[in-house]
Amino acid sequence: MNKKIKKIILKKNKSKIVCLTAYSKKMASIIDKDCDIVLVGDSVANVIYGMPNTHKIELKTIINHAKAVRQGIKNSLMIIDMPKGTYKSEKQAKTNAKILLEQTQCDAIKIESNNKNFQIIKKLVKNRIPVMGHIGHTPQFKKKFKIYGSNLREEKKLINEAVKIEKAGAFSIVLECIKKDLAKKISKILKIPTIGIGSSVHCDGQILVTEDILGMSGFYPKFVKKYVNLNRIIAKTVRKYSIDVKRKKFPTKKNTF
Ligand code: KIV
Repeated sequence: MNKKIKKIILKKNKSKIVCLTAYSKKMASIIDKDCDIVLVGDSVANVIYGMPNTHKIELKTIINHAKAVRQGIKNSLMIIDMPKGTYKSEKQAKTNAKILLEQTQCDAIKIESNNKNFQIIKKLVKNRIPVMGHIGHTPQFKKKFKIYGSNLREEKKLINEAVKIEKAGAFSIVLECIKKDLAKKISKILKIPTIGIGSSVHCDGQILVTEDILGMSGFYPKFVKKYVNLNRIIAKTVRKYSIDVKRKKFPTKKNTF
């Protein structure tokens, strides 16, 4: 098993697993210092390309971003989201996952669950492709946003789905927007680490979209903590630059050859 993956698994019940997304070399190199996992998420669709959802992002686009991210990572585990429609069958999933691994040198891939594709995970793991699962709110398969685990039926279904993914061989699983008590239960039942997004402190680790914590995305639901408002800082900086150029305060002698 990949040493970095082993390290992530060993953190379960010992120390929290810190994860963020990156789509560029620069961002990857900054977050690499403090993250265990860097995800090239399909959220690149919304954050970088302004698409309304993640459904149309293409494999080649994710590959290009992943190649850039790879250059910025020294320590953390690099995972890539398989885009919607690239893992519809076991054969297609295997082909595309291999392309991702070979072309980007990523460590693992992530697959959103539709309660059926644990078979695909099984096939990939059999072929020595490390997989992270993803349950709860899975934007590739759900039309509407909602919080999961508010009734017994849903609870049973999600526990069952999580166990199937673990049995299929996934080394970790994202729990997205799952109620606190259920996230706690799933995290206790599974031997693999759970990574929460909107799923409480009881998960073994946490993931957020980097541009959300930086105040750059404009998307700040309850589960996001905006640590800084970079949009405001950038806007102020651009205003200062614009004024300087117009008043001929820039460039000065210092900036001139
Ligand atoms: O695409 C993404 O950013 C994700 C999240 C879990 C952060 O899948």
